[in-house]
Amino acid sequence: MANYDVIIIGSGPGGYVSAIRCAQLGLKTACVEGRDTLGGTCLNVGCIPSKALLHASHMLHEAEHNFAAMGLKGKSPSVDWKQMLTYKADTIGQNTKGIEFLFKKNKVDWLKGWASIPEAGKVKVGDEVHEAKNIIIASGSEPASLPGVEVDEKTVVTSTGALELNKIPKKLVVIGAGVIGLELGSVYARLGAEVTVVEFMDAVTPGMDAEVQRSFQKLLTKQGLTFVMGAAVQKTETAKGKAKVHYKLRKDDSEHVLEADAVLVATGRKPFTDGLGLDALGLEISKRGQIKVGADWQTNIKGIYAIGDVIDGPMLAHKAEDEGMAAAEQIAGKHGHVNYSVIPGVIYTHPEVANVGETEETLKDAGRAYKVGKFSFMGNGRAKANFAGDGFVKILADKDSDRILGAHIVGPAAGDLIHEICVAMEFGASAEDLAMTCHAHPTYSEAVREAALACGSGAIHA
Ligand code: NAI
Repeated sequence: MANYDVIIIGSGPGGYVSAIRCAQLGLKTACVEGRDTLGGTCLNVGCIPSKALLHASHMLHEAEHNFAAMGLKGKSPSVDWKQMLTYKADTIGQNTKGIEFLFKKNKVDWLKGWASIPEAGKVKVGDEVHEAKNIIIASGSEPASLPGVEVDEKTVVTSTGALELNKIPKKLVVIGAGVIGLELGSVYARLGAEVTVVEFMDAVTPGMDAEVQRSFQKLLTKQGLTFVMGAAVQKTETAKGKAKVHYKLRKDDSEHVLEADAVLVATGRKPFTDGLGLDALGLEISKRGQIKVGADWQTNIKGIYAIGDVIDGPMLAHKAEDEGMAAAEQIAGKHGHVNYSVIPGVIYTHPEVANVGETEETLKDAGRAYKVGKFSFMGNGRAKANFAGDGFVKILADKDSDRILGAHIVGPAAGDLIHEICVAMEFGASAEDLAMTCHAHPTYSEAVREAALACGSGAIHA
């Protein structure tokens, strides 16, 4: 047993970042993690491994589609799936070991095992009960189940099993055209699978700007993904390593069946709080299973905080990290802050899709007068040279004040480009501020400046 200022439960991006910040602020800190490695879903079975597969499969796509045109002749590489999984595992290992190193460097104790909270001020790990003046719950999320669909992580898989399939399926059915479905669907499409995405709504990636949704779906269709929209999956059946996916079209209730070698269920995630003993503690939980917190991330029980996927808001690693740092600062008597209106979202397909702030739809709903500045990557010299002319940058600004309200990018390096707009928004900048900032030529970022110019007197290369 040991006494701590703070014990953090969970070592995902929310938990480990919070632990490091707590230690940096002079608090005696421990982090509980039951997996064999640190880093949570993101590093072990989420963001990082999926990015390794996205990168490798994108390289293959480049070799197959663009090398010859660039004068790079020769046979396209073939896929050694086992080696690709080894590359993915190495990437995970380097990252999880990195967190271990950072814990040692910052003197954060790793309490190995699964935690429960027998009472405020105490955390039980295995047979040991540790005292903690403050507890931060950062236990993350798990895939939500879908009625009628039984996941075996072999033929019918969640994102976890999809990163470990024993071979590349000939036919893959993806249930849900959200972030996970489209990122992993892209991976397998590039690796040669016939991918069909079955989506309940009439547009992909719910909540995104409608113009982006349409353009993104078109680009993915061009890459070979097939979409069945407005379709509610009813059930799956598996036999002899094959699966059948039954769905009903919402427009006419007609029933259909798709056959597949693998099925990826990507219909959302839910908070993971199993085994923590929250009911017995009397911790307030919403109807959606999220832990309720106040503006300082403290729950209804003094000294118990919660951050990341277990509370309200987008289930994003970077949102959890920001909350983790802010909660640490609150505990240390400082003023932690998260600006929830400037949290970027990125889909790491090719091209990437990135967004921040308002969409045209949310602005219309709010009755706010706005203007749109748009610029296509076809007008960007660097993008054309790199066969990356698909997509656009769209900036939404207040009609009168010109203040930037949101931005949406489909295109090369969108996930990096979005951040200059995030910084601008943090400073309350106008589109003109961006437009008057010199951008190096030739870079993709010039497309951001051109979109900002298009909010005013006009883009140059349009
Ligand atoms: P999601 O909420 O993004 O999308 C789920 C989709 O499934 C929705 O479009 C929904 O309409 C559809 N759906 C639900 N029930 C259905 C049914 N019966 N039949 C057909 N379609 C149905 O969920 P997803 O992709 O599973 O991701 C979970 C969370 O993980 C999200 O919050 C996401 O933001 C996060 N994530 C973020 C990543 C990133 O930022 N790059 C990467 C991976 C995950």
